[in-house]
Amino acid sequence: MCGIVAYIGHRQAYPVIIKGLKRLEYRGYDSAGVALLNHGLKLYKKKGKVAALEEITVGKDLDGHIGIGHTRWATHGEPSDRNAHPHQSSNGKLAMIHNGIIENYAALKSELIKKGYVFHSDTDTEVLLNFIEDIQKNNGGTLEEALRIALKRVVGAYVVVLIDKDNPDTLIAARKGSPLVIGIGKNEHFLASDASPIIEYTKEVVYVNDYQIAIIKSDELILKNLGNERQTPFIQKLDLELAAIEKGGYDHFMLKEIFEQPDTIRDCLRGRLDVQQCTITMAGIQNNIEQIKNANRILIVACGTSWHAGLIAEYIIEELCRIPVEVEYASEFRYRNPIIHKGDMIIAISQSGETADTLVAIEKAKEQGAVILGIVNVVGSSISRISHAGAYTHAGPEIGVASTKAFTAQLTVLAMVALKIAKERETISHDRYLHLLEELNDLPEKVSHILARAEHIKNVALKYKDVINALYLGRGYNFPVALEGALKLKEISYIHAEGYPAAEMKHGPIALVDESLPVIFVATKDAYHEKIVSNIQEIKARKGKVIAVITEGDETITGMADDILPVPEADEVIAPVISVIPLQLFSYYIGIAKGYDVDKPRNLAKSVTVE
Ligand code: M6R
Repeated sequence: MCGIVAYIGHRQAYPVIIKGLKRLEYRGYDSAGVALLNHGLKLYKKKGKVAALEEITVGKDLDGHIGIGHTRWATHGEPSDRNAHPHQSSNGKLAMIHNGIIENYAALKSELIKKGYVFHSDTDTEVLLNFIEDIQKNNGGTLEEALRIALKRVVGAYVVVLIDKDNPDTLIAARKGSPLVIGIGKNEHFLASDASPIIEYTKEVVYVNDYQIAIIKSDELILKNLGNERQTPFIQKLDLELAAIEKGGYDHFMLKEIFEQPDTIRDCLRGRLDVQQCTITMAGIQNNIEQIKNANRILIVACGTSWHAGLIAEYIIEELCRIPVEVEYASEFRYRNPIIHKGDMIIAISQSGETADTLVAIEKAKEQGAVILGIVNVVGSSISRISHAGAYTHAGPEIGVASTKAFTAQLTVLAMVALKIAKERETISHDRYLHLLEELNDLPEKVSHILARAEHIKNVALKYKDVINALYLGRGYNFPVALEGALKLKEISYIHAEGYPAAEMKHGPIALVDESLPVIFVATKDAYHEKIVSNIQEIKARKGKVIAVITEGDETITGMADDILPVPEADEVIAPVISVIPLQLFSYYIGIAKGYDVDKPRNLAKSVTVE
């Protein structure tokens, strides 16, 4: 939520910042702004995407070797020019960008108003900035000292970056709960919410930790804690190529990411799955295998699409490992004082590794003694760092706001983790284990097979592009796929869609069914097939339109459905990876046909770092 970029060094800051903001736009895109220091402070900001900011800066003074930039996802105050960041302090000397939420901003604001401060925006950011200015004014110390004092009073989450007219050779930044990466170049430094604005300049980075303050000059990086003690920066090498964050000839990141799935699944399996040797190698799991295999209970915490992956993992783990599993929305789990016993294991699933609710949920569980296993895509992200053990999904950067390749990679990793635990616990037969290894191995080819038929999926999608509502139904392993299909349609096409277990339909949603309602069944061949065939008949009897994701060659459903989306046959444990693909494309083509920006759907942001 919100993207921040800052630069200090020998280059012109403006082009570095604008390019970086475009890469971070997936994090928020309702307004953007930049502040530059060069014989004074210059500030430009505009409602809308980064392109709108660029338009208003044409012909303006953009000179400066130090600057900060921001792309916003509104929390406090509507998207507008005046609420866009950077904000300027009352005395005009400081400018600041912020990602996160200052929860006690109202109390701080009324203190400041009593002192005569006047506010020009509705944001919590301007409050924090003037609070810092006020501390500096009263204490007479440096900006760094004032920031340290201010942050001790702040409740909430933040990354802040400040520039100061009186110290034009220094950037000051701090973090708690939101991500901040610093790229280290030759006599230059780059700051950003993730590494994508940095990789074309340097691969050496430092991930700033919570409660750290960074004091950055062109040739110096100092890290301190809030107690003013210096801390040694831990420099890491980025394992990321520029091509991975560009569209590569596709019209949209979402389409590119859908089509990347054979490769991302292959990358996820590579070095782990060995069908010949009949092994799964996952060091992060193996190193903690005793604790993991002896877990009394597994709690899965996640949000959104990652939560859907968790629901599928519940089916897989309970069936293969015979360990009870509960799947929780991280946002509910963190606040309801959950009961955690010794021997419980928490699996946190997150693409970004920065989702605030998931992060806080596992921090709390960790305090209570749970073992945390992180299934995360972004290497070095906060969730991956606070987990005891884990496995990366290796899907590469996912830029489209709607999660696609990250979901199938999560399912692939979760299946491997479950198989590994099942093998250790001896709750799976050798034949079944080997069969599932082969099924995993075949996944990339089966996904390619579906993608080769994208044109058919597009034609079906276009038939339904003007519907107002849609119902998605599935049973067993395919029930969470129905939820995911409905979420994709909502996000991308703004069509109201609901996912349900197919049998639950009779307990309410069936009242919605008439000739105008498309019902999308996820009905591949599995243990529930006959049951779902009955459910399809129930919809047809009420004149509903049936679109069915089916196993190729399923004559029964072909004869009943209005439209079919066939996929190759797969074991039901693995089938969700396959059955979700047509639903991703179905949503994509409807979103495009309706003329929407599918990579940046309205009101959404890729990384939800506020609760
Ligand atoms: O980065 P995370 O996986 O933790 O994100 C969780 C959700 O915010 C995310 O899956 C969201 O629901 C996506 N927009 C779904 O497409």
